[in-house]
Amino acid sequence: MDVAREQELLEDHDVVVFQFPFYWYSPPPLLKQWEDLVLEHGWAYGSEGTALRGKVASAVVSAGGTRDAYCAEGHNRFSVRQLLAPVEQTCVLCGLRYLPPWVVFGTHRLSTADIEIHGEAYGDYLRWLVEVGPPGEEVDGLAELHPEPHRTVGVEARVGS
Ligand SMILES: Cc1cc2nc3c(=O)[nH]c(=O)nc-3n(C[C@H](O)[C@H](O)[C@H](O)COP(=O)(O)O)c2cc1C
Repeated sequence: MDVAREQELLEDHDVVVFQFPFYWYSPPPLLKQWEDLVLEHGWAYGSEGTALRGKVASAVVSAGGTRDAYCAEGHNRFSVRQLLAPVEQTCVLCGLRYLPPWVVFGTHRLSTADIEIHGEAYGDYLRWLVEVGPPGEEVDGLAELHPEPHRTVGVEARVGS
């Protein structure tokens, strides 16, 4: 892994998207390795580690399980956000604002048409994040973002314009 290049990319961008499939209620190990190597003390955290401060982090997750399964009463007992607590706290420690995850649930049963719809919604979400900016604090406590957050939060949507 080219750590210097990864750090340069992070320094050059305001929004950091962690996109991954959910594997055993976690990100795949490559993301953990990326964190271990790239988020260096004195750069990402620690008294002089301020490189990421004020940026925004968005976890984008695909999960085989359904939304109903990811709650206290459900089969998986915890929300995706709760299960991603180490990712959230890593971001917070490094001074990033951590958004509720943007999740595609039930991937095992998606048709090709469903995948295209989710792909378009994801594209809209990314464009909205960049063009409009991150949602306000009203979303901070949510288990996950709405699949089309630009339609639900109180900012003018400019996606696709
Ligand atoms: C090794 C492995 C572990 C998985 N663990 C979970 C899991 O804990 N929870 C879940 O909802 N889906 C789980 N899945 C399903 C994946 O999340 C799903 O197949 C993936 O999000 C689909 O995206 P992809 O086509 O990019 O792989 C797992 C899949 C694999 C291969």
